[in-house]
Amino acid sequence: MQQVWTTSSWKNKQITQQPVWPDIQSYERAVKQLSSLPPLVFAGEARQLTNALAAAAGGKAFLLQAGDCSESFADISADAIRDKLKVILQMAIVLTYAAGVPVVKVGRIAGQFAKPRTSATETVNGVEIPSFRGHMVNDDTPTLAARTPDPNRLLTAYHHSAATLNLLRAFTKGGFADLSSVHNWNLQFVASSPQGKRYETLANEIDRALKFMAACGISLSSEATLHQVDFWTSHEALILGYEEALSRKDSLTGDFYDCSAHMLWVGERTHQTDGGHIEFLSGIHNPIGCKIGPSTTQEEIVEICKALNPKNIPGRLTLITRIGANKVVKILPPLIKAVKDSGQSVLWACDPMHANTFLSDQGLKTRHFDDIITEIEGFFSVHEQQDTWPGGIHIELTGDAVTECLGGGQNISEEQLDHSYTTTCDPRLNAQQAIDLAFELATLLKRFVAYPTLAEGQ
Ligand code: PEP
Ligand code: CO
Repeated sequence: MQQVWTTSSWKNKQITQQPVWPDIQSYERAVKQLSSLPPLVFAGEARQLTNALAAAAGGKAFLLQAGDCSESFADISADAIRDKLKVILQMAIVLTYAAGVPVVKVGRIAGQFAKPRTSATETVNGVEIPSFRGHMVNDDTPTLAARTPDPNRLLTAYHHSAATLNLLRAFTKGGFADLSSVHNWNLQFVASSPQGKRYETLANEIDRALKFMAACGISLSSEATLHQVDFWTSHEALILGYEEALSRKDSLTGDFYDCSAHMLWVGERTHQTDGGHIEFLSGIHNPIGCKIGPSTTQEEIVEICKALNPKNIPGRLTLITRIGANKVVKILPPLIKAVKDSGQSVLWACDPMHANTFLSDQGLKTRHFDDIITEIEGFFSVHEQQDTWPGGIHIELTGDAVTECLGGGQNISEEQLDHSYTTTCDPRLNAQQAIDLAFELATLLKRFVAYPTLAEGQ
């Protein structure tokens, strides 16, 4: 018999990737407290994002989802948040201006504090300690004390998310994102680089276009879209006790929303259709993402679509493929075909990061910029063959001048990786690499927009 969905029905399913909380009473206290705190986002906002993603699913917009692999409690400063936002706004402007496609901007931000791990423990200096599971659970310092899960971190994650979101709302609605500020988004350390100069040229063109419109008598001050942007939050819905505690019933529709972020996604390790994560996400009404790895079968991908989007609502489900630079051209076509044949509406997005990670000779996790571009090119060419819209990109980046990914315009080498390697989890693109990527992407997208069947939308 089909069981009724509730915010806690996930507890009746197989649940993977959860921390072992040493003190269950403090855990219960923490989630109880979370459930009485105000929501971070509102149901109406989640519905607006679903509509924006529906436009992207229909070939009329492009999703840019970007941010840290794992946000750090130590990095919640106004400068760090502003710089991450600057890079995302810059990328969005490059894509919008160069390809003429509206960009839906979603951060991996204000809640991306939990990480799935391949193994539950690791051995450091001969001692077996729990793996780092994100600052919502434990600290990244490799000692037993730091790695022991602490439920008070769930509350800290909530408060850090609230502070981050508050600043993002102020930045995006309070003038900082005004189109007349395009020059100000160029980070100082990027401005003199070839990427920074290329961006500056584009920003000058935008200035000229705005002046031209004003000279034609168009009242720019009354056009709200020129002065503020919609910027949405997202994270992996991993720690289900936290997500349940932040779920609220919408008084307008009676539907449940997970009010910890506008969009939630389920990771490659937790998307079993009979598991707790899919059960939880199937019942909340936010837009949902699902990572799709190289071993996913045609049957699985269709099952995932049906489980997460039983009413087949456009914009509800984004499939984020992360297949690998050398496999995407072979593995993606049958997956797209299966979804098309099933009649399910999805937004296809490419995560070119997670299947292209390897260890450098010095033992640092890294990714090569060229592999990232190759996977994106493969993603675009497969969608072109399949006559489907390559509707988005999902990447890990930071506004800091880090050296975590190889290559790019600065041609970062393995020897340079440890110069500024500060990520608490996966290697991120730095601001210059991110802008480089946006220009490459814009070239691909421009070609696609000119493609005859898609020019009229799907
Ligand atoms: C991530 O997005 O950081 C991640 C762990 O991805 P995946 O689930 O695709 O491995
Ligand atoms: Co990651």
